[in-house]
Amino acid sequence: MGHNTETFLGLLASPAGHAALVFFFFLLIVLFLRKLFGPKGWLRDPKWDEMNRVQRRQEQEAAMRQRLSQLIPLLEREQAVFGSYVDEFCRAGQPDQSAKARRLIPDGHPGLAELFERAEQADPALMYELKREHSLNVLQNAMEIVVAEPALFPAGLPGSKKIGARPRSAILRKGMREPDAVLLLAALYHDLGRFEQLRRYGTFCDAVSMNHGHLSAKLLKGPRFLAGESPETRALTRLTVLMHNRRELPAKLTPGLHPICQALRDADKLDILRIMAAELAPGHAPDPTVVLGLADEPEKYSPALLEKASKRESIAYTELRYVNDLRFVLCGWLNSLSFETSRRILARRGHLESIMTALPDTPEIKRLTDMVRSDLTAVADPYIALQRPL
Ligand SMILES: [Fe+2]
Repeated sequence: MGHNTETFLGLLASPAGHAALVFFFFLLIVLFLRKLFGPKGWLRDPKWDEMNRVQRRQEQEAAMRQRLSQLIPLLEREQAVFGSYVDEFCRAGQPDQSAKARRLIPDGHPGLAELFERAEQADPALMYELKREHSLNVLQNAMEIVVAEPALFPAGLPGSKKIGARPRSAILRKGMREPDAVLLLAALYHDLGRFEQLRRYGTFCDAVSMNHGHLSAKLLKGPRFLAGESPETRALTRLTVLMHNRRELPAKLTPGLHPICQALRDADKLDILRIMAAELAPGHAPDPTVVLGLADEPEKYSPALLEKASKRESIAYTELRYVNDLRFVLCGWLNSLSFETSRRILARRGHLESIMTALPDTPEIKRLTDMVRSDLTAVADPYIALQRPL
């Protein structure tokens, strides 16, 4: 036996050696248990992770609700301003008739932004009310996104380090003070120009009147809006409003504004889907303007577009022939939403489900709807707090 081995055995025999052995033994047991029950352990019950996740989310949500409650006075003030602005239009009634007469009729299919424009020949007061309702719904959607996406708005999150929110964006680093306030104000005012647009041109169609995002941002400069807000908040809110109806967000955007713009676009799309779901529900004769004047033949669809939708390829609006083709397009909207929270809200509300129910019952279509349904199930979340309205 070598000298070194003897020294080692001698050490083990000493009281300190015993203690070290016991310690080593326990360490082994701990490592073994960790292998069994630790993260990704062989015997780990996935329910534990789910419970932890739910608890973490509840903590985050509580923090965000607290933050949101600080924003309530500001939102109430601006909602009152918005409300009185819309009331003025509702009282004034008819749009400018001479302007209406000058209006051109668009040809071809309008794009996504015009999807649910139905101002023509309708009661203007009703149109104003629909836009008011839409604006408030988009604000509500934005609030849900703020509450459920704490990583998106780290500046608004007290103790964000503690609960491990990792800033997804540059918002915090660049020091934007109130990203959540910017989002919520922009949500409330994103369609501010719609009222003036309808009054002036008698239409919501941007192609034949003017870009309503630009008009909204311009009107938002007025002294009655965002009074008392910092110049930074005012400028960022206007910029977010300006971007809301862009086909694509510009790659270079004011630092930190990208996720805010995405969140507003998600919130907007969610409400458009609510409107589309009501129009495209089974047994409902859809408003021709909402369905882009497409042929509403319950059994007909374009097989090529079904193929595209099944492969998750994008479909141009000019390709659409039947209302069912539009349903295929809307099926793709789930994955066009930027945030998981938005997809989850959509899954919970069941709008896609009611849009799909009216599709013809063929094996090819069933393949598409099965795919969308499994996407919906994948984003659905057992987290109950999201189920209750704010
Ligand atoms: Fe808009």
